[in-house]
Parts: sequence; structure tokens; C-alpha cells
Amino acid sequence: MSKNIESHLEENRVYTPSEEFSQSARISSMSQYRKLYKESIDKPDVFWAREAAELQWQQPWSQVFDWKAPFAKWFVGGKLNVAENCVDRHATSSRRNKAAIIFEGEPGDRRVITYAELQREVCKFANILEKNGVKSKDRVLIYMPMIPEAAIAMLACARIGAVHNVVFGGFSADSIVDRLEDSGATYVVTADGGWRRGKIVPLKENVDVALQRYGKVRKVIVHQRCGNEISMTPSRDVWWHDEAQNVKSTHRAKAFDSEHPLFLLYTSGSTGKPKGILHTSGGYLTGTYSTFKYIFDIRDTDVYWCTADVGWITGHSYIVYGPLANGATQVMYEGAPNQPDFGRFWKIIEDHGVSIFYTAPTAIRAFIKAGDHFPAAHDLSSLRLLGSVGEPINPEAWMWYHRQIGGERCPIVDTWWQTETGAIMISPLPGCTPCKPGTATLPFFGVDAAILDEAGNVCKANEGGKLVIRKPWPSMTRTIYGDKARFRKTYWSDYSGIYTAGDGARRDKEGNFWIVGRIDDVLNVSGHRLGTAEVESALVAHPAVAESAVVGRPDELKGQGVVCFVTLKEGKESSEALRRELREHVGRTIGAIAKPDDIYFAPALPKTRSGKIMRRLLKELVTTGEISGNITTLDDAQVIINLQKCIKP
Ligand code: WTA
Repeated sequence: MSKNIESHLEENRVYTPSEEFSQSARISSMSQYRKLYKESIDKPDVFWAREAAELQWQQPWSQVFDWKAPFAKWFVGGKLNVAENCVDRHATSSRRNKAAIIFEGEPGDRRVITYAELQREVCKFANILEKNGVKSKDRVLIYMPMIPEAAIAMLACARIGAVHNVVFGGFSADSIVDRLEDSGATYVVTADGGWRRGKIVPLKENVDVALQRYGKVRKVIVHQRCGNEISMTPSRDVWWHDEAQNVKSTHRAKAFDSEHPLFLLYTSGSTGKPKGILHTSGGYLTGTYSTFKYIFDIRDTDVYWCTADVGWITGHSYIVYGPLANGATQVMYEGAPNQPDFGRFWKIIEDHGVSIFYTAPTAIRAFIKAGDHFPAAHDLSSLRLLGSVGEPINPEAWMWYHRQIGGERCPIVDTWWQTETGAIMISPLPGCTPCKPGTATLPFFGVDAAILDEAGNVCKANEGGKLVIRKPWPSMTRTIYGDKARFRKTYWSDYSGIYTAGDGARRDKEGNFWIVGRIDDVLNVSGHRLGTAEVESALVAHPAVAESAVVGRPDELKGQGVVCFVTLKEGKESSEALRRELREHVGRTIGAIAKPDDIYFAPALPKTRSGKIMRRLLKELVTTGEISGNITTLDDAQVIINLQKCIKP
């Protein structure tokens, strides 16, 4: 049996929400949180029935959940229409003329879509889909820029019971083919192009290339975004705006079973063929609705902005379904954070009066690297709440976010969850949870999270182990599309009836969850198992360092040696002296055991297209000097060439 993951980093800074914030929050004290949490665990049927009842059901459920591990059903027998809940419910209320989406394109074009308009657009597109032959349960691949039509297409699919599969607009034709084949999709919704860093991403052209290798697509519906020249294949390709001329702007929403499939979203994980994560209707909507309501503590006066792309689960749950189910007003931005410069996000916040801002650590570190003068040039006083998702946030990045963006007044919700979990699982509640920089803190209602050792025992405080969820929850993935065996093996085979997330974590004495890195990335140095996050955070805490990645390299004496890749802040120079200093700095912060054997200064780190560091590639690079594995999920292939140069100077 291998030993537990050790932890050496202790964080003692604690931040509690202001009296003012707490007083107006839905959950305003820890005792209120604990009471509801207890109920949600002891009587999940009571807690979740109450949450689900805030949505609109066309037929009530007969049973809150049915659990035959690892397969769950939620709100059994209930019927609803997800799109009706996200759109019509508000369009027929006093929110009718409230902004649903405030859109800003990368070139600077702006558009405000009210709930009433959103209803018309979704209905029209639902009619377009039906007119083109799309039926309930058909798979529709959506390959779009970050524009309102992406959300409209998703909602229209939901409205008619079709299963959407959004593919991130930065993926290539190959990725489209893989997803078309695995899902057996017969329809594609795309755009001529999208704006990214001042250039047009040729979306339709990529679809055309993909469709030369996959012949089952009946229709391609093309939205005109950039006006770039594209070719249209007669009888297969139709323009969205042409089709819109001939359909009504009303559409009657049919009710679908609570377990009707809502979407597939492919997640690559670190290795292997992408998995088609399946989410269904009633439970997923209840989970995203409820988490968004409590964790972002949304109000009708808020202007919310999540910077994720709709191509990721964060975009599905916290741009489309969670916020719209809550009738929120949100900003949607098409382009890159540094277009025309690193002030763009801060300008958007100032211009639109954004009050809740949700982004990723990778973006925060890029802003830190670029320099404080960018946010300092803008009025960010409209902000009242900040969020983070996607990776562990390094404590120094948390502090920067708190000071430079939050003006030391905004709580930060560090939200841990996964494509598979559908909704946020571990997070502070902004009105009550004491936060320490770097921890996602405590489980959300109904989430029975724990840390187990290899034998299945609960780890003691500060002992590292595997992060698991012991009870079913409404927004959990139902299966990997077409591969139940892989579903069981990937998530349910470590411990019987328990979901394994694949992350290493520990709980501190207060019960806060600290994610220490992916289990596959854990280092093993002289018999000590170290998560990557602590060593990386120690490096990021040094004033010269913007970002770092730590991997193990085979070492005859120690088992593994610690190899660090470091990118420096703008204006900082690499040198032998800095290398020595960083080595000592890690030794002092974490302990001699973690002292790096090698430190490489890199211009950039390899990342997935959603910004996660790909340690697998670095590990291969330091072990073999080369990269032979699959790099299709890599964002920028040039990064690897530069890294090869820096390890062989
Ligand atoms: C990581 C994104 C630490 C984690 C919603 C997880 C995090 C994986 C956090 C899922 C966080 C996400 N703190 N780690 N707040 N949020 N992760 O499927 O390793 O793109 O398992 O879903 O991201 O990534 P996915």
C-alpha cells in the first residue's frame, strides 16, 4: 500500500465576509450553513425536493432519487422543459424586459438581449431545428464563438429534447471528427467565424474539413458572425438568418422526462480518448440552479460575468443553465483577455458595472504577470463578489485577486468541481464561510465529500488522500456516453459505491478541503508523496515568479527528483542566482524534501485549451527529452519547442 500524500504548506491568513455582505446574504452565518448542510445530508430528499420545487415542472416527480450505484436517477417520474425554466419562466414574469445577456464582441460591438427577446430567439431557433428535421434525442454538435447564438442554440436543443454537444471553438477539425463519431451526431450548428486576438477563427472551414471524414451530418446551420468568405454546400448547409425568415417566434415547449439526456460534453482528462460525459435534465438543472443561487448569492440587481467559454462545463453550468435558471443578468464576452491589451477585462467590468466576476487561476496568473497597472487604470468598485475555478488557486494569486481586483472588500468563492459533477461541489458560501487563500473550503449542500486513504479509511486532519463523494447528488454525470464499463472503471472502482474525483486533497483542522493536485501528478520523493500544488504555490509566492509547474523525474536515489518549470513576471530576468534563490525559497517554505533538483525558466507552460497546466507533457519531456504522447489538447504547440530548448540549452 502506498503512503499518504504529505502536506507541508500551512496557511494561516483567514478572511471573513464583511458584516454588510453577510447581513444581506442568503446564508449569513456558519450555524445556518451547518444546519442546512446537516439536513441536506441526513434528508437529501427533503432538501433537494425544496430546491427543485423552485423550478417549473409540468409533471411532479414521484420519487426524489433512485440510487443503484453507480447509476442515479433524480426526480423520478417528473417532467419539465429545461429551456422553459431558463427563459420563458422569466420572459413571462416581471423580468420580461430585464437584460439576460449583455454581449460584447471582441471588436467592441455590443448587444443587450432581454429575457423577452431571448425567448423569441430560442423559440425561432427551436423552430429552425425542427424544420430541418432535428428530433428529440438527436445529437447536435455546436461549434460556435462566444456569442449569444451559442447559448441560444443550446437552449433551443434543450427545448426540443435534442442533445447538444458543444465543442470549444479553439479545437481543430480532428477534435470535431472524434466527437461526431463518438456521439453519432447528425446535425451541426456553427458560424462563419469568430473573433480571437484580432483574427477570424475559421469555424465553418474547420467543420467542412471535419465533414469530409464523417458523412452522417444531414444539415449544417451557419450563423453569420464575421462575414468572412465561406463555402456553403447546397442542400446540406443553410444560413441561420435565412431560415429565421420563415419560422415563427413562438414555440410550445414540450415536457421531457427528468432523466431525458440534456447534453454530452467531452472531457479529455490527462490521457486517452475523450470521454463523452452525459448530463440529464431535472437533476442537472436543479444542481446548477441551486449552487448558482447560494454560491454567487445572485440578486436581480447584479451584473454577473463568467469568463469561461461555453465549450467548457463552466460555460454550460455557469453561463447558460445556472444563471438563466435564476433569471440573472450577465455579461458575455467573445474574445481574448489581452485584446487589445491586458486591460480589456477591467474595462468590461467598469463599462458594464459588473458586480460578480468568475474566472480561472490561469487568467489571474496571466494578469499578475502582465502587471498591476492594467487593473489599476479602471474603476472596479462595482464588484462585490469574486470567484475562481479550474485549478487550485495559489495563495499568492488569491491575495492578488483579493487586493488588486476585489479591493479587499469582495469575498472570493474558490469553487471546486468537475465536468462530471455538473455543478460546484466544494466552495465557500460568500456570506459566511471564513476563507483561507488556496482552499475551496467546505462542501456545498448535499455533497458528502471526504478524503480517503488507499484502504478506504477517512484520512486524519492534514493527511493527504483521494478526494471522493460518498452520496449521489442531482447534477452528477449519469454515464460516459456509450461506455458504461469505462464509467465504472474511471470513477467507481477505487471504493465500492463511492465516486473518486481523481484529485488528491487534504482537510485542515477546520475541515477545509485543499486540493493538492491530480492523483496522477503526485510526486514520490524518497518515499514522500507530494502534491504538485504546494510546491508550485511556494514558487508562485516568490516575487519574481508568475507561474510554475512541478513534475517528478526518475531518480536512482530518491525514486523521483523534483523538476520545476517557472515563468517570470514581466521585467524579471532569469539567472543562476535566481535559480539558487528559488531552490532555497522552496526549501524554506515547504522543507528540504521538496527542494527542486532542477529549475528551468520557460517563456510559457504547456496548457490545455481551458488553461490547465499539462504536467504529463513536462514529465515526459524531463524523462525522455522528448514528447511523443498525444498533444491534441495542447493550446499552443510552440510552447513545447521552446521548452525543449530550455531543457537542452
Ligand atoms: C481542477 C472544471 C482546485 C480539479 C469545473 C478538477 C480545481 C478538475 C478547482 C476538473 C478548484 C477545478 N481548486 N482544483 N477550485 N476547480 N479544479 O472537468 O483537478 O474542466 O478535478 O471542470 O479541475 O476540471 P473540469
